[in-house]
Amino acid sequence: MEKSNMHIILSAAISIDGKISTRSNDSKLSSQEDSTRLHKLRSKVDAILIGKNTMLKDDPLLTVRYTKGKNPTRIILDSKGTISKNSKIIKSSDKIPTIIAVSKKISKANLSKLKKLPVEIIISGENSVNLKLLMKKLSTKKIKTILVEGGGTVNWEFIKNNIFDELIITLSPYLIGGNDATSLVEGKGFAKIVNSPNLKLKSVKRLKNHLVINYIKV
Ligand SMILES: NC(=O)c1ccc[n+]([C@@H]2O[C@H](COP(=O)([O-])OP(=O)(O)OC[C@H]3O[C@@H](n4cnc5c(N)ncnc54)[C@H](OP(=O)(O)O)[C@@H]3O)[C@@H](O)[C@H]2O)c1
Repeated sequence: MEKSNMHIILSAAISIDGKISTRSNDSKLSSQEDSTRLHKLRSKVDAILIGKNTMLKDDPLLTVRYTKGKNPTRIILDSKGTISKNSKIIKSSDKIPTIIAVSKKISKANLSKLKKLPVEIIISGENSVNLKLLMKKLSTKKIKTILVEGGGTVNWEFIKNNIFDELIITLSPYLIGGNDATSLVEGKGFAKIVNSPNLKLKSVKRLKNHLVINYIKV
């Protein structure tokens, strides 16, 4: 694998039909028990990474709240540096380490706005954030384990670039449908099943009506 010595886990809660949110952007697919499991996992990783749309649509805090433990660094992929300073992540960035990963496409105005915030800015890539380069830069900052919490576009980029090691999916007992509802993996997708990464089932854990399925890339 052409990447740094990083351990990257893709994580999501999906409906039985593979959606990670509804067409009106309701993404609360986890149960309380599953959220506690996720927060325990968050407390064990160095960083959590999400895409700009997830930040915009869900306005998550990405902290450890349902268990005791340290908050990982939060990393947002935002090529043009457009995120709002009113988001929960930015509002808490004076207390919790936050990295905004941008590309060279960012305007001077947006860059200077970001520089006024208590966040670290990492520039990698021309038009979009170059993930392999970003991973290399992060590994020099003692970030060795990253939990990627989506959304679908970000998941596709990690899969397409073959830069993940593990997949932890919570299968939630819902059927959502909708062409405009976001799927676990968006983007162009592979034309052939043979192009898919090979995954080996590591474990399945039942949490009442939810299943936590852990695959390892082989
Ligand atoms: N159920 C769950 O577990 C779960 C978890 C997370 C999210 N979600 C849902 O997922 C939905 C959002 O997913 P989404 O697919 O629309 O967006 P996303 O994956 O959250 O964000 C994609 C955006 O990130 C930016 N980005 C920058 N560099 C990138 C790179 N190298 N690769 C990929 N993206 C990069 C791009 O915008 P720029 O080009 O402007 O930078 C891109 O459009 C929301 O509805 C959210 O609720 C669900």
